[in-house]
Amino acid sequence: MSLLHLKQNTTSLAHTSAKKLLIMNQKGGVGKSTVVAGITSHLLTQGYKVSLIDFDAQKSSHDWASPILKDRVTAYNPSFNSLSMLASKLSVHSDSDFVIIDSPSNFTLDDMTRYAYYVDGIIIPMAPSPVDLHASLPFIKTIIDSNLLTRRNISLSFIVNRCLENDERVDRVHHLLNHFRHFNILGRMSEDDKYQQAFYHKELVDLTVDKELWESAITWSHQLKCQRMQRYQ
Ligand SMILES: Nc1ncnc2c1ncn2[C@@H]1O[C@H](COP(=O)(O)OP(=O)(O)OP(=O)(O)O)[C@@H](O)[C@H]1O
Ligand SMILES: [Mg+2]
Repeated sequence: MSLLHLKQNTTSLAHTSAKKLLIMNQKGGVGKSTVVAGITSHLLTQGYKVSLIDFDAQKSSHDWASPILKDRVTAYNPSFNSLSMLASKLSVHSDSDFVIIDSPSNFTLDDMTRYAYYVDGIIIPMAPSPVDLHASLPFIKTIIDSNLLTRRNISLSFIVNRCLENDERVDRVHHLLNHFRHFNILGRMSEDDKYQQAFYHKELVDLTVDKELWESAITWSHQLKCQRMQRYQ
């Protein structure tokens, strides 16, 4: 495909009519890239056109998705770019229904704004272990206090990851997250080797795992209000 052809068929992140979902948590290893793979796999299977942007230099999602999504995957470090520069530089295929964005851990407040500025919804994966949970809470408070969500009309949801059967810790997480009342809990993601196998073989996540969770994540995504900027404003 020629560069010109590609350019004609792409739209900037700020102007795409696709629903843009950011997977974010300042804590490392909580399952951000695994959630990216889970939701992308289910969207593709339902026939949606998905583009993926990986803001993490580790490029886990980029490497997983490259054989699957081909030229619909972009790895990009947004740290040194202004928001307007990001909007014009980052483009996705014009026919995309969804843009799924992975992000690194340990980012600055400035970076958080860069990751979130053009998105419609944010999913925060949380691990139920007390250590991980307490490491994630200050970040959740930061993003809520930053006013970014209300200012940009962004919806926020949680996924509780690595849940075992009859896991008491999960109830504790639900109890804690219920304090953030106006944010949704999409559901529980089980501890399952099949998530790791998807990365190992660079293939879609087994669709039988946590089917209900992924369906509810997709239903939630459909309801998001698309923040599409008018082209010539
Ligand atoms: N539900 C799960 N079942 C089994 N393994 C999981 C699950 N979720 C995550 N993992 C494993 O835990 C590790 C961390 O997950 P992942 O890479 O998705 O986290 P991350 O938040 O993207 O990490 P980082 O902050 O380094 O980008 C990986 O080895 C992944 O395969
Ligand atoms: Mg990751």
